[in-house]
Amino acid sequence: MNVASAAGRTVRFGVIGCGLMGREFASAAARWCHLAEPGPRPEIVGVCDLNEEARAWFTRRFPTVQAATADYRELLARSDIDAIYCALPHSLHRQTYIDVVRAGKHLLGEKPFGIDQAANAAILQAVREHPEVVVRCSSEFPYFPGCQQLIRWIEEGRFGKIIEVRSAFRHSSDMDPNKPVNWKRRVETNGEYGCMGDLGLHTQHVPFRVGWKPVNVFAKLSKLVDTRPDGRGGTAPCETWDNAVLVCDVEDKDGGLFPLILETKRMSPGSTNEWLLEVQGLRASARFTTNDPNAFYYTQSWDKEQAWCRLGLGNKPLFPTITGSIFEFGFSDAILQMWAAFLREAAGETVPFGCVTPEETALSHRLLTAALLSHREKRVVELG
Ligand SMILES: NC(=O)c1ccc[n+]([C@@H]2O[C@H](COP(=O)([O-])OP(=O)(O)OC[C@H]3O[C@@H](n4cnc5c(N)ncnc54)[C@H](O)[C@@H]3O)[C@@H](O)[C@H]2O)c1
Repeated sequence: MNVASAAGRTVRFGVIGCGLMGREFASAAARWCHLAEPGPRPEIVGVCDLNEEARAWFTRRFPTVQAATADYRELLARSDIDAIYCALPHSLHRQTYIDVVRAGKHLLGEKPFGIDQAANAAILQAVREHPEVVVRCSSEFPYFPGCQQLIRWIEEGRFGKIIEVRSAFRHSSDMDPNKPVNWKRRVETNGEYGCMGDLGLHTQHVPFRVGWKPVNVFAKLSKLVDTRPDGRGGTAPCETWDNAVLVCDVEDKDGGLFPLILETKRMSPGSTNEWLLEVQGLRASARFTTNDPNAFYYTQSWDKEQAWCRLGLGNKPLFPTITGSIFEFGFSDAILQMWAAFLREAAGETVPFGCVTPEETALSHRLLTAALLSHREKRVVELG
């Protein structure tokens, strides 16, 4: 079903999980007028969260909300909901995503798209059984203009023979040992992958999309803090991996191999939501990092010298907005762009750079499961 035509270019959404990310979606939906060509437009019709206050945040701000519930099945039963955004702890992805797809609703789910490989496989089975729904996974960082520029350079083959690619997502807030434990630090709710499940897809979306698929992996995982305050005056075990460095071989266009280094770190001194993609090639190199979101870095060469140049790129997003091109682009702009991409995909349009596909999440799970084995057995694991 083409939801946009069925609903007169308005896609009616249910939000399951009204926490940090649920509210980001709501904010993007509220400023849809920001897009120069709005295309299909989201309207939030239903919300679900166990926490009443989290639901109330939506009902107080969005008069369009008709249903607020603690049971997501109530949203799935409604014929006035076309699509679901699901932003729940990882342990809930499997059942919820399967139920959403079986209810015939389009789905933007959150990463890692299942707590482990078995959960991801069960979700993908449901997706295959329901080709009428459009299913994607959230990943917003590639929508920064600097990253889009880097993607264009990759597609144009500007780097020549690739030397190495590094894709990283780094935080430092966990370096405070007094930061209380939450569901993201527990294996039961976050999964065995730890930081890799939480942050990994962000580092994989662009490499996978441009065809850089790992053929093997060697993983080094670290756990640096054993316990954290439990928020009730005691302490609780902090079970998940804090940092991970994956070194993979990737096949180049010429059949040779180059290293793809995927870093996901919760303890990276000085990093605040630092997302980085750097491509080094024999002919040119380039880098985008959210530490300098307005910039695109690239090398210029004279004979055997290379100089890093900084281009102040400005606001030139994939989906044009009302913001002048001289202004800066930020996280909430990237979220808006991702949602613009998803709504167009759900309406059957082809977009220049789409959201993560279910098949890409399956590759991610193969990689992360192999990474756990690699670390355990201290060896390179082939992905086949
Ligand atoms: N794309 C991104 O940049 C990004 C950033 C952070 C988190 N995430 C992902 O988003 C998802 C949610 O993370 P978050 O940071 O928003 O978490 P959060 O803890 O802020 O929000 C989760 C919400 O789910 C609710 N919830 C828990 N169990 C529930 C249930 N059984 N039924 C209904 N509601 C329930 C909680 O009350 C909470 O409000 C995760 O998959 C996470 O990996 C993505």
